[in-house]
Amino acid sequence: MDAPEIFVERTLAIFKPDVVQKQITDELEEIILSAGFTILQKKRLVMTPEQASDFYAEHYGKLFFPSLVAYMSSGPLTVMVLAKASAITYWRELIGPTNAVKARQTHPDSLRAIYGTDETRNGFHGSDSLYTADREIRFFFSDSIVEPIPRGQAARDY
Ligand code: PPS
Repeated sequence: MDAPEIFVERTLAIFKPDVVQKQITDELEEIILSAGFTILQKKRLVMTPEQASDFYAEHYGKLFFPSLVAYMSSGPLTVMVLAKASAITYWRELIGPTNAVKARQTHPDSLRAIYGTDETRNGFHGSDSLYTADREIRFFFSDSIVEPIPRGQAARDY
C-alpha cells in the first residue's frame, strides 16, 4: 500500500523593490529560515507594468492601483515559495500590517516596521489565502512543485 501523503502549506513571498535595493536579502533569508520556513523556490526578476497589473488584478479600480503597479514594476523583486505549517498566516504575521509607518507603532518587530518605508514602499508581499497562494505561486513558478511531500520526509529535505 502506498504511504499516505501529507501537505505542507505554501505561500508566495516577495521582497519588493525598496528592500531588494537595500541589499539585505541574505539577512532576510536568515530571518525566514530562523522562523522555521523552508525556501522551496526563489528567483529574482523585474515585472513589466502589464505583469504587475495582472498580478494585482483584484485591486484594479482602487485609488492606489496605479502607484502599486508603478512601484512593483520599478525594479528587481525577489520572489519565493515558502513552506511551513500555516505558512500563509505566519508569513503575514512576520511581515506585519500594510502601512509601514503604522506598523512601527503597532507591530514594531514586524519586517515592514523595520525595513519598510510607508504604505506604498512596504517591502514585502504575502499571499492572503490558500486560493491566492496557489494562484500567485503559479503566476511566478509555472513549473512549480505541486506534489505533496511524502510522509516521513522532512520539509527541509524536500
Ligand atoms: S485592501 O484594499 O484592504 O485589499 O488593500 P491592502 O490589503 O491593504 O493592500 C493591497 C495591496 O495594495 C498595496 N497598497 C498600496 N500600494 C500603493 N499605495 C498605497 N497607498 C497602497 N495601499 C495598499 C498593499 O501593499 C498590498 O500589496 P501587497 O503586495 O499585497 O502587500
